[in-house]
Amino acid sequence: MTFPLPVTQINLPPGMIDLGLGDPSFDLLPLDRLRRAAADCFARRDPAFLQYGLEQGNAYFRAALADFLSRGYGFPVDPDSLFVTSGASAGLDLLCTLFTRPGDLIFVEEPTYFLVLRIFADHGLNILSLETDSDGLVVEALEERLKEARPRLVYVIPTFQNPSGRTLSAERRARLADLAAEYDFLLVADEVYHFLGYHRLPPRPLAAYAGNGRVVSLNSFSKIFAPGLRLGWLQAEAGLIRRLVGCGLLDSGGGMNPFASAVVREVIEGGGLAANIEELRAVYRQRLAFMDAALRRLLPAAEYTPPEGGFFFWARLPGVDAVALRQQARARQVDIRPGALFSGRGGLGDYLRLSFSFYAEPEIEAGLRRLAECLA
Ligand SMILES: Cc1ncc(COP(=O)(O)O)c(C=O)c1O
Repeated sequence: MTFPLPVTQINLPPGMIDLGLGDPSFDLLPLDRLRRAAADCFARRDPAFLQYGLEQGNAYFRAALADFLSRGYGFPVDPDSLFVTSGASAGLDLLCTLFTRPGDLIFVEEPTYFLVLRIFADHGLNILSLETDSDGLVVEALEERLKEARPRLVYVIPTFQNPSGRTLSAERRARLADLAAEYDFLLVADEVYHFLGYHRLPPRPLAAYAGNGRVVSLNSFSKIFAPGLRLGWLQAEAGLIRRLVGCGLLDSGGGMNPFASAVVREVIEGGGLAANIEELRAVYRQRLAFMDAALRRLLPAAEYTPPEGGFFFWARLPGVDAVALRQQARARQVDIRPGALFSGRGGLGDYLRLSFSFYAEPEIEAGLRRLAECLA
């Protein structure tokens, strides 16, 4: 069975179903919302958004975003605590540039988002992976480590984690923020899935602790709107924001992505972002339930806890080498992400990450069938 993909999807061989992809499917990209917002933006006849942008990000955009976040988080967000980025990846890269030096030690969760390991490698950072359980990072394990080593930065994905789907408990969030202040490390919380819960609200984001000066919350429009916008934000305390605003990159290039900020401002003010997230949640909730049922039916050996949000199933296939499985899978035109990619210490060999964000139910079913054939 083959499925037509838009011609712009150039990275996939024809017929391949890549269940590893953490992208939204093409039919979920907000073409009409953006077309209308861009028309409204141009109709203002104010060309300021085509100029170099303010280093911290456009003030109208930050005000609209702060209002949206205040409603979504349930506590007030000050527009001045927000700094506009061209995505969570760019925000993290800038934090590494400004607050780390090659050779510094940083802590991550085991497992963690695999591509972030590449960013840390670009900065010459030494990575140590910390234990996690069903409530996310084991904070006691971190406390033990802190007795002997001082990390410059600790990176966590507290909500609907990539890849595990797990969510850090409220108690652990509070403790983690306290530890960041006590041991003086930068706690970087990547909260890009915070608004993509399908059953219940997650605990308050770590953004709630940004005021303590050691917590930075990264977020993005990539998962809740459109990754091609290359637009995101971070929330931090005033001193940290000043350091970011004064950096050389922005001195030369101006604030990040004023064009996309201006268009997305129209979307937010018109209620389009909230509506978009509601639509995404309805679709992803169904796909998640479908993949769960299909996994039980087609891959009964897979051990996993169904996620409550985000994009991913994190499954263990005891005794299976997922890297070898991937090779066989590709030969059968299905792809996965082996667990080893998500390990900072060469572990997790019998895990795999499967995503339900890019494909609708028929492709999910067909992909899992092919995978089951490989395992048979
Ligand atoms: C945890 C996490 N952080 C960051 C990103 C990338 O975000 P952005 O597109 O905003 O750079 C992803 C995308 O997969 C992700 O899963």
